[in-house]
Amino acid sequence: MTAKPKVWVSRPLFPDVLARLAEHFDVQAEAIERKHGPDELKARLADVDGALVGLADRVDASVLEGARRLKVVANLGVGHNNLDLDALTRAGVLASNTPEVLTESVADFAWALMLAAARRVGAAERWLRAGQWPGSNMRFDDWLGLDVHGRTLGILGMGRIGQGIARRGFGFDMRVLYHNRTRLPEAVERECHAALVSRDELLRQADFLVLVLPFTPENRHAIGALELSRMKRSAVLVNVARGGIVDDAALAAALRSGQLAAAGLDVFEGEPSVHPDLLSLENVVLSPHIASASEETRRAMANLAVDNVIAALGFGESAGKPPTPLNPAVLSRATSKA
Ligand code: GLV
Repeated sequence: MTAKPKVWVSRPLFPDVLARLAEHFDVQAEAIERKHGPDELKARLADVDGALVGLADRVDASVLEGARRLKVVANLGVGHNNLDLDALTRAGVLASNTPEVLTESVADFAWALMLAAARRVGAAERWLRAGQWPGSNMRFDDWLGLDVHGRTLGILGMGRIGQGIARRGFGFDMRVLYHNRTRLPEAVERECHAALVSRDELLRQADFLVLVLPFTPENRHAIGALELSRMKRSAVLVNVARGGIVDDAALAAALRSGQLAAAGLDVFEGEPSVHPDLLSLENVVLSPHIASASEETRRAMANLAVDNVIAALGFGESAGKPPTPLNPAVLSRATSKA
């Protein structure tokens, strides 16, 4: 009897989802959540056929050295800046991510941050929990925030998640502007009630600027001191994309000086550390990279990653046809070799 292929899972996952892998593979699943350094990743990948990795696992040429059996790396997330796709393709390893299944949950969460930042939900809750309400003689004009309805929503990066955020804007009677490398088809613009503007125009006009662009070297600090200085003083910035797209030190300075009214951030430069200046501000709502974390969506993401591994290793109904490959050239190469 031939041995089952081996699959390593770098993060604890839902047991029933792991069980799907165990039907076909010898599964080595991490039982506790922790970061794996390059040496450990290299050692883990050295003798497995497939791996499910998290966004904190950096898979590059150095960790792929010696991974002779490895055929697939499935990322548990839609963003894949932790994967060096060129190196994976050179090594003949298929990579996959989890698009689509998280779109609506992340769009919901961007709205949660917009609303919470505008109406000061975090600061007000801290105040209440600290027991400050009784005896405070709270005034009629205390805790005033910003309205969301009827304002201008600006979206930087108009992929599927950006479109989901835009569609919700219609219900809040917002004017929706976007900037993207390429213009969306007219039918999609109509459905999103969104109009394309230049990046500069977006910065100047948005009352709420939501960042949903992928993290690439060019997008590092896409929002820095200069961009923040072009925004309205009454504006709110929301980042559900990646840490590093915003210069967090510059953002903290703008929030402190009143150059920007408020922010909602789910992602941070160097997370899980958060810039100390942000932690000390009341006009920013902070969450620990959880925009996709609804029960249904995290399960769907895990299942999709598993579907990719099962199919890439030649099992199941979709054998040889993983649903969401990032470097499908690897598949055609494997087929033409066969
Ligand atoms: C989360 O940040 C993701 O990329 O899925």
